[in-house]
Amino acid sequence: MSKKLIGIASDHAGFPLKEFLKGLLVKRGYEVADFGCSREDSVDYPDYAYALARKVAGGEIPRGVLVCGTGIGMSIAANKVKGIRAALCWDEYTAKMSRNHNDANILCLGGRILAPEQAKQILKVWLEESFQGGKHRRRLEKIGKIERGG
Ligand code: RB5
Repeated sequence: MSKKLIGIASDHAGFPLKEFLKGLLVKRGYEVADFGCSREDSVDYPDYAYALARKVAGGEIPRGVLVCGTGIGMSIAANKVKGIRAALCWDEYTAKMSRNHNDANILCLGGRILAPEQAKQILKVWLEESFQGGKHRRRLEKIGKIERGG
């Protein structure tokens, strides 16, 4: 069986958490596509958000994880890419809802906010939960319409 593919990227503030989560994903049997950064020297988070988001939007990578200091910048940047539903999650409930109701295809995390263990639990829930469809699909279709110009 081929490995499940997931993308990951961070800026310098998210780098330590990205490395931690990457190790967990590999242990869980994922093939991890790492879009950087590769050290803690200051970089610009939109570059990394875009590198991953365009692959997810293009269907080359089913979903991904973005980490910056707060997760806010990554989510703002990733959500500029059509087809991306990037969710900034800070606990297991928001991670679950982002999958059940929003069909989030990118998880954004704050590396300066979350302890590694918290982030691990959030990621676990996010990977295991699925989209519920129904009325939630109708709402996502409305978001798609906004993306296409309203
Ligand atoms: C970098 O200092 C910080 O601004 C960035 O990691 C992120 O938190 C932006 O939203």
